[in-house]
Amino acid sequence: MNSAMHIRIRPASEKDIDYVIAINIECLPEHYPLSFWLEHLNKYGDVFYVAEVDDSIVGYVLTRIEEGESFFDPNKKVKKGHIVSIAVREGFRRRGIATYLLSAVLGALGYSYDASEAYLEVRVSNAPAIKLYEKLGFVIIKRLEEYYLDGEDAYLMAKKLK
Ligand code: ACO
Ligand code: ZN
Repeated sequence: MNSAMHIRIRPASEKDIDYVIAINIECLPEHYPLSFWLEHLNKYGDVFYVAEVDDSIVGYVLTRIEEGESFFDPNKKVKKGHIVSIAVREGFRRRGIATYLLSAVLGALGYSYDASEAYLEVRVSNAPAIKLYEKLGFVIIKRLEEYYLDGEDAYLMAKKLK
């Protein structure tokens, strides 16, 4: 791969889903049925992005919109973007692609959905992802004991959008 590769971030469409699922299986232990991906595409298509390099998909981010208690103002009910899954194929990492994907989501959460917070869970051992989220302004809110099926804990990380 040369350093002048062209990265394009665009909203996901139905024809992308097979590639997105393949990247999810390649990169993460948490997998979902086809119906889950399609449902998110239909309901929250403005916060489901793919990254393309030379016309092939190398990464994705899937988000859903929820309403619930604020992580920053207890007792206040807010609209939140829940970043459910993000991955970039191994050979394409450390080139800013996840940063571009998340920036697109954080923007759209505000202007398409009027959400005031974004949040996610991440394995406590996943230093690269934690670093990425911290760089984008996410902070650790709490530790979720044995959050994952294999028993590992998660950090819940959140960011205020407005
Ligand atoms: N080691 C240390 N810091 C890292 C690393 C790493 N391996 N990867 C990213 N970072 C930090 C760095 O600060 C980096 O900036 P820099 O390159 O200027 O130093 C910053 O994050 C931004 O990195 P990007 O290039 O934007 O991230 P990338 O496109 O490489 O994707 C990702 C990061 C998505 C975590 C990728 O490593 C990946 O797909 N991992 C496997 C799947 C995964 O763990 N997904 C997240 C699970 S949690 C969830 O989905 C909600
Ligand atoms: Zn989650």
